[in-house]
Amino acid sequence: MCGIVAYIGDKRAVPILIYGLKKLEYRGYDSAGLAVINNQKLEVVKKKGKVGELAKSAELKGLKGNIGIAHTRWATHGEPSELNAHPHLGCNGDIAIVHNGIIENYQSLRSLLIGEGHKISSETDSEIVAHLIEKFYEGDLEKAVLQTLNLVEGAFGLAIIHEDKNEIIAARKGSPLIIGVGKDEMFVASDVSAILKYTKEIIYLNDNEIAKITKNKVSVKNILGEKINHKVEEVKWSAGQIEKNGFKHFMLKEIFEQPESVQNTLRGRLYDDKVKLSVKIQPNKVDRIIIVACGTSWHSALIGKFLIEKLVRIPVEVDYASEFRYRDPIVGKNNLVIVISQSGETADTLAALHEAKNKGANTIGIVNTVGSTIAREVDSGMFLHAGPEIGVASTKAFTCQITALLLLALYLKQERNEPLDKKLLKEMKKLPQRIEKVLEYSDDIRKIARKLSRCNDFLYLGRGINFPVALEGALKLKEISYIHAEGYPSAEMKHGPIALVDENLPSFFIAQKDKMYEKNLSNIEEVKARKGKIIVLGTEGDQKIAQLADYSILLPQMCEEISPIVNVVVMQLLAYHIADLKKINMDKPRNLAKSVTVE
Ligand code: AGP
Repeated sequence: MCGIVAYIGDKRAVPILIYGLKKLEYRGYDSAGLAVINNQKLEVVKKKGKVGELAKSAELKGLKGNIGIAHTRWATHGEPSELNAHPHLGCNGDIAIVHNGIIENYQSLRSLLIGEGHKISSETDSEIVAHLIEKFYEGDLEKAVLQTLNLVEGAFGLAIIHEDKNEIIAARKGSPLIIGVGKDEMFVASDVSAILKYTKEIIYLNDNEIAKITKNKVSVKNILGEKINHKVEEVKWSAGQIEKNGFKHFMLKEIFEQPESVQNTLRGRLYDDKVKLSVKIQPNKVDRIIIVACGTSWHSALIGKFLIEKLVRIPVEVDYASEFRYRDPIVGKNNLVIVISQSGETADTLAALHEAKNKGANTIGIVNTVGSTIAREVDSGMFLHAGPEIGVASTKAFTCQITALLLLALYLKQERNEPLDKKLLKEMKKLPQRIEKVLEYSDDIRKIARKLSRCNDFLYLGRGINFPVALEGALKLKEISYIHAEGYPSAEMKHGPIALVDENLPSFFIAQKDKMYEKNLSNIEEVKARKGKIIVLGTEGDQKIAQLADYSILLPQMCEEISPIVNVVVMQLLAYHIADLKKINMDKPRNLAKSVTVE
């Protein structure tokens, strides 16, 4: 959850490092720093606060040097401060490192180093890496780093420089790190968004690999020192895709990208009468499915359960990855474990994947980020092809995850020689247009947001396949507007939550014309009787429910299976507009990071 950038070439490193950090700020932004080699002297500048604080510091003005490393931090060990900011140095001040991850045995290593006379100045786990490399350094930086990596336990993405060396050493285990290949220049970064402006030629480092990088050569070894060959891959994302394309925030851009991103998830997979996936599954051998994920991805997992059980009649369990990984779960070789992760780097989800694989399950990944760790460790999977999701609050990844799960459910059905409902396939083809229609309500939803942005609590209520949409609506509001919100199955209101209802509490009901319509209607009336504010997401033409509600958004009738993909867009827009009206920069909500790569 921190961001790393490094550069070696003929250009001045500082502007390239600062640009890269700004692109990675969504990974964490409580402090930032950089180190460059200027005339064979290591110069380090670190600042508390966002990258902008570092960028405007006087020390950077005119700071020369064409080899450098940089870091934007999301604190794990040691509070946000200049002292704890990266880069960290050894005692002699000639080695600098930047680190993303957690060194789990840093306390014992810290005691060892202090016992050998090292002065550890910060509260971080990362600093001990610099001292260990210094301890082993006898002129060969790569060798000293290898010796260090064989000692440390935990997760790391590292970039290291020494003032006497015209090279960068990069290494990874459990935290993402890529190498950008330029013309007589090389880049290292936590993800492609930091360097896409300079190159699309990328080498994806694998776990337990170390790279020695000069301005025109990359050599990779594994932790045992054995040479590894990596092919250079071309990234399909354009630099423009990274930018906001004229939207005020990345989150809004990504909400409006959903017709296209859902189309991209369907592309090459959905046909008039069949579904084509390249996943490796033997559906007739699958007796149980377990889906593990975190956060918004866990909400899509809940919807996946509904879809697979309804369409394929295979029992599905959904688990938080953080719970699954520590419960010694019962998993067998005839179980299919699906891991869902936008970033493909979420530590808990990756650990859950390892747990499932160790127990012999066949694993499938539903991941957005190509080259990510989870994507490369599952037995097979589906990329969302949603394009980069920069906003911390997940939007297009969520709708693409559900689309992918629906495709997977249909694929399982098809491979079990069961007929597919052609009406559903047709409905799926129309998903982009249906989402476009919801986006037209953005201004209306902003008007509702204006009325409700001062509320302190919200309830979100839905049933069946739309109960997880209620959970997701609540999470969106919480994480970007800092307003407390809870999602519940509508029928649960009478088991407690209705005690919260008064004229200050808005209840957002998903109450469309489906088999639960009448039940939802009575839930709404219960809230109305207690003067609660009511927002309803209903069906076009349903004046009865519109009259009951204070605010209503009425959408065209749609089949149950696709309704979560369409309905959630209303929730995303409501949360976005409330946060925007509260003048919150929802691309970087407080306390959150885009990719939680530690426990
Ligand atoms: C979603 O809005 C949140 N930012 C968060 O819950 C996220 O979904 C979760 O951390 C999982 O991330 P992943 O999909 O990259 O694994």
